[in-house]
Amino acid sequence: MATIKHNEKEEQVDDGSNIKAACEALGVPFGCRSGYCGTCKITILSGSENLSPLTPEEDDMGRDLQHRLACQCKISKGIVEIKIDA
Ligand code: FES
Repeated sequence: MATIKHNEKEEQVDDGSNIKAACEALGVPFGCRSGYCGTCKITILSGSENLSPLTPEEDDMGRDLQHRLACQCKISKGIVEIKIDA
């Protein structure tokens, strides 16, 4: 199991799975869920090495490995700590 943390809360997800549901449970807002609207922007505070590579959609939106779209990321293992972008 892998873990997504936000503030004092955390959600468990299966290794290798998308982090959408966990992020939603932690309060990240979602719109299109497909990488086009930018609603789900998050900053990775730690554990960015545990996330999947940047997708073309994230690249198009100027995101980088510390600034992701929650709808595009999968977690491989371990712990990722996020902050919701304002
Ligand atoms: S929900 Fe639209 S980009 Fe992630």
